[in-house]
Amino acid sequence: MDIKPKTIRKDEKPLSDYHLQFISSFIYQRSGIVLGETKRYLIESRLKTVARIAGLSGIEEVCNSLANNTSQLETLVLDALTTNETSWFRDAKPWNALSNDVLPKIKKNKNAQILQIWSAACSTGQEPYSIAIKILESGLFNDWTIRIVATDISTQVLEQAREGIYSQLEVSRGMPIRSLMKYFTQVGDVWKIKSEIRDRVTFKEHLLQKDPRYLGTFDLVFCRNVLIYFDVETKRKILNHIHSALTNDGLLALGGSETTYNISDDFETVPTTGTVFYAKKKLQHFWKKE
Ligand SMILES: C[S@@+](CC[C@H](N)C(=O)[O-])C[C@H]1O[C@@H](n2cnc3c(N)ncnc32)[C@H](O)[C@@H]1O
Repeated sequence: MDIKPKTIRKDEKPLSDYHLQFISSFIYQRSGIVLGETKRYLIESRLKTVARIAGLSGIEEVCNSLANNTSQLETLVLDALTTNETSWFRDAKPWNALSNDVLPKIKKNKNAQILQIWSAACSTGQEPYSIAIKILESGLFNDWTIRIVATDISTQVLEQAREGIYSQLEVSRGMPIRSLMKYFTQVGDVWKIKSEIRDRVTFKEHLLQKDPRYLGTFDLVFCRNVLIYFDVETKRKILNHIHSALTNDGLLALGGSETTYNISDDFETVPTTGTVFYAKKKLQHFWKKE
């Protein structure tokens, strides 16, 4: 029998140590995300996909083109290597605390009838739209001005977030059926969020390492499930920026495995039912009052 050697497609060449280092340092410079040996297989498979989409021969050519500053390719690589995992009302506890403790207390204590919220690292929009739904359903702010700003580094996720269109699988991840029927319209096999929710959120491209004050100041900042991807120095920088964008009575929500502890001394915890939020330290904010 004539045994032929297995043909390896050009783009199936494995990721070399040199290119792993090149890509890791490119991603770190652009986003602060720390990749490395432990993510080798993820990087390799996603770069192969990028090569196919961009019509390049493989990882090597992707890296060579990146070195020559092709901005379209840069966006493609950055989008491919950021983790956009998200869901509706992700982790029940902060959402229950928002409804039961945080929103009623803001309503009771804030004089100016304007509620400003920033969903930093919003991915495909599930987080800011979940916030919009919670506010609407609280029934507390009908005569208030509501401003929800949602930002991300990835243009690709922001595009989907702005459109507000989700697959059956995406809506099945955390959206209660009652809310799905109420706030979405089914179009073929996808679900489109209704304008009464969509129009409450403004999406912008923003890098968390940049000074955010041009976005405004905020009563609530959700920066969830993204700090985990950064080193301590980058986390500290981002927490400093968030501190500067919070009002004196403002609160920060982090992901379940994230904390300001040992990173920034500028925050103190505000216990709520089942979870903690973070407030600016040493200020006489209204979270200290009963
Ligand atoms: C895992 S998702 C979290 C989404 C949402 N906050 C949640 O908890 O479900 C992380 C998001 O952070 C974004 N991201 C990563 N690095 C970023 C950076 N340096 N600046 C802004 N956004 C970033 C990614 O594009 C991604 O959409």
